[in-house]
Amino acid sequence: METEFADAMEAFPVSRLAETEDPEKLLEGAQPFMELMSRYRCAMMEVETKLRVLDEEFSMTYDRNPFETIKSRLKRPVSIIGKMKRRGYPLTVEEIEKRLNDIAGIRVICSFLDDIYTLADMLAGQDDIRLLEKKDYIVSPKPNGYRSLHLILEVPIFLSHSKQYMKVEVQFRTIAMDFWASLDHKLKYKKDVEEPERIAAQLKECADIISSMDERMQQIRDQIETGKKMEE
Ligand code: GTP
Ligand code: MG
Repeated sequence: METEFADAMEAFPVSRLAETEDPEKLLEGAQPFMELMSRYRCAMMEVETKLRVLDEEFSMTYDRNPFETIKSRLKRPVSIIGKMKRRGYPLTVEEIEKRLNDIAGIRVICSFLDDIYTLADMLAGQDDIRLLEKKDYIVSPKPNGYRSLHLILEVPIFLSHSKQYMKVEVQFRTIAMDFWASLDHKLKYKKDVEEPERIAAQLKECADIISSMDERMQQIRDQIETGKKMEE
């Protein structure tokens, strides 16, 4: 892990700026990478805005919000380089763009299960969006218990002289799924855990409890909604 970090830092020119003979040349080389990251940032903003527009419309029409929070992040250069190296791809801007799907990432946290599918379908169905991949870890959870709906989308960004499609990964989760995933993530970084199998089994057990809780919450909401409709 540490060597990987050191390797990645070595490959990233900015860390060598101070000691290099020709810093200007080095910065020039970094320019295409900065431009690539800027295009991903635009794509991320684009998708985030689309989700916020849906949220606005939902709160006007149905008097409720389809998601609780949105978190966006760009993958850090060190992580980009690390992943490219691990997979044995050359470190060029073209290859980075071609091989990685998760440089721009958005996490949408919903209250209820069916909000996830409603939002995901609405977003993926917009006519300027291309759906490249859909992984439903809610219907088919990972063996460790991880659940979420992952979409890889392509969204066009309009630049001064061109239109370019950029990939964005969107992860949809309920609050409960997010709670589990954050703790799972934290525990993964703990080293030298005693009895790792027992820990894994307990995490899986928690994932199952959380999953049935999400279903119960959805049922309760369905009952309330049906009740409201009967009154109308
Ligand atoms: P990556 O190269 O890791 O992106 O693999 P992939 O392209 O097969 O994607 P995958 O569908 O496994 O999902 C990747 C992302 O989902 C990760 O970056 C995490 O954010 C999240 N994720 C996937 N599995 C787990 C898990 O077991 N625990 C947690 N906490 N998050 C997970
Ligand atoms: Mg990933």
